[in-house]
Amino acid sequence: MAIKHYLQFADFTLAEYDYLIERTKIIKRKFKNYEPYHPLMDRTLVMVFEKNSTRTRLSFEAGMHQLGGAAIYLNTRDSQLGRGEPVEDAAQVMSRMCDIIMIRTFGQEIINRFAANSRVPVVNGLTNEHHPCQVFADVFTYIEHRGSIAGKTVAWVGDANNMLYSWLQAAEVFGFHLNVSTPAGYDINPALVSADHQRYTVFKNPSDACEGADLVTTDVWTSMGYEEENAARLKAFDGWIVDAPKMKRANKDALFMHCLPAHRGEEVSAEVMDGPQSVVWDEAENRLHVQKALLEYLVLGKI
Ligand code: CP
Ligand code: NVA
Repeated sequence: MAIKHYLQFADFTLAEYDYLIERTKIIKRKFKNYEPYHPLMDRTLVMVFEKNSTRTRLSFEAGMHQLGGAAIYLNTRDSQLGRGEPVEDAAQVMSRMCDIIMIRTFGQEIINRFAANSRVPVVNGLTNEHHPCQVFADVFTYIEHRGSIAGKTVAWVGDANNMLYSWLQAAEVFGFHLNVSTPAGYDINPALVSADHQRYTVFKNPSDACEGADLVTTDVWTSMGYEEENAARLKAFDGWIVDAPKMKRANKDALFMHCLPAHRGEEVSAEVMDGPQSVVWDEAENRLHVQKALLEYLVLGKI
């Protein structure tokens, strides 16, 4: 049987997400009630980080321990990956010693090559092109606060980055609409969007993108790996801050989300980030809960 990986948001069907959402609710309730739940006893997660992380490492590592398993952290600086061992060889070796692998790396093709050579499921903990675990946590957070996301409007104001491409896939899976506004020269790469995608509209003006939105979301203007472009990006993104006037264009009960870490005064004003519509801390916490459901599903299948 083919191994199931989670390399991009579209790797799961709506039925699979519905199942995972139900499992997440159950697993989260157990956690809140201090009820031990150890379905992954004696199982091991290997986490490979080629970029920095706070939330992803913490949520996967804590999550695996809470499920009764063990988590091992590797990074490029002190593993052989940083000294040129081929990804294919690393995948062969690592996947003989553990039950599931999470990777944060640069190009999507790296994780694709890794997964093609792995004996165990591989999870994308962020690549240049996708960040599916975060968008799954965000969709779960929206549902917790407001109910079904189907038919709703999500506004994306900012860079065409990994978060946006995962949101674009989520819109197709969950059936909501995405209003996208990116500055000129930082447009969506059509190669990363399905050719028949019907569920997004591009706006030149970022405020117009927020009109009537049920959720407004953004992310850093300079993602990891693009630091050299920072000065040019600061200029190009002037005007793309999510601030109170933009939130006023959205629906009255609109939520604000940001995957974090955030830069107050750049992509989001402090007023919005720390204001009553912001659910950024719930989003961060839900990384833990959705990923525990994901680990359980990928290692054990449906239970
Ligand atoms: N949102 C997110 O993935 O955060 P980290 O970079 O801290 O893992
Ligand atoms: N787009 C950001 C997300 C960080 C969690 C980055 O790739 O750096």
